[in-house]
Amino acid sequence: MNYTSIQDIDDIHTWVEEAKQLKANPLADIALGKNKTLGLLFFNSSLRTRLSTQKAALNLGMNPIVMNVSGDAWGIEFGDGTVMNGNTAEHIKEAAAVVSQYCDVIAVRAFPTLTDKTKDESEQVLSSFVKFASVPIVNMESATGHPLQGLTDALTISEHAKIAKPKVVLSWAPHIKALPHAVGNSFVEAMQKMDVDFVIANPEGYDLNPEITKDTPVYHNQEEAFKDADFVYTKNWSSYDNYGQVINTDPNWMITKDKLGAAKFMHCLPVRRNVVVEDAVLDSDSSLVIEQANNRTYAAQLVLKKILENG
Ligand code: CP
Repeated sequence: MNYTSIQDIDDIHTWVEEAKQLKANPLADIALGKNKTLGLLFFNSSLRTRLSTQKAALNLGMNPIVMNVSGDAWGIEFGDGTVMNGNTAEHIKEAAAVVSQYCDVIAVRAFPTLTDKTKDESEQVLSSFVKFASVPIVNMESATGHPLQGLTDALTISEHAKIAKPKVVLSWAPHIKALPHAVGNSFVEAMQKMDVDFVIANPEGYDLNPEITKDTPVYHNQEEAFKDADFVYTKNWSSYDNYGQVINTDPNWMITKDKLGAAKFMHCLPVRRNVVVEDAVLDSDSSLVIEQANNRTYAAQLVLKKILENG
């Protein structure tokens, strides 16, 4: 099996309960991954994904090996039939086949261009590994999705929910740079599978891909969306309609203690303090961000466990 999308989760409630069991006893399956190798290939930067996925592998007895592809490997060509007389020195057909001989599972992080919507939505890097590798592939954040984060977030909400059907708000917040849609997309897909009252808040011009948001209510008024919220999940993303553009940096969308009220604050990290969210939120008991980062290990461990058990 591959894990490339939240849609690969058959029953998120079962997966969340299984992740809780792993968290309670992280070394229970230490023999499962003996003599198995996890290759982690990073085309982009990471702190949490890089360390938590290695930790997850170690908890299963696997041997993780890591490569910063962009900095350290030969430039990889993804085009079919390309005359490789430019900057790329190795084709994905060889690269994926070779890495498959060293690894029993390959995990890949490759961000979008944010300039070419068609290319990004084709998931060129991730889908090429799926096509040309001969071992299971795990998405460690691709152009359009971050399903390890989405599963983590479902686990965190399940752990902290005080009522049967909590209200969860995904709120855009300002940022100085153009950021991907991947975290927002996977969070939307995860919440659509959970028993939550889920809404999205973002400024005009920042609606996520409607093929992902489907019938989830979208508010362009943050105050209205936050009413009676139990969880506020915050993330910046660039415009989808004006693809990859920053068209709004309105500081009035920053998350403050006043706006949050009694709700819990969530963010995948890294987060820019006092741009996305004020110190008073992150430094308070309302913030779940450190627990979210902790849960990244158990989400990754569950995915790896299922791959090891099911092939
Ligand atoms: N949330 C997350 O994926 O963090 P990193 O980018 O540091 O891996």
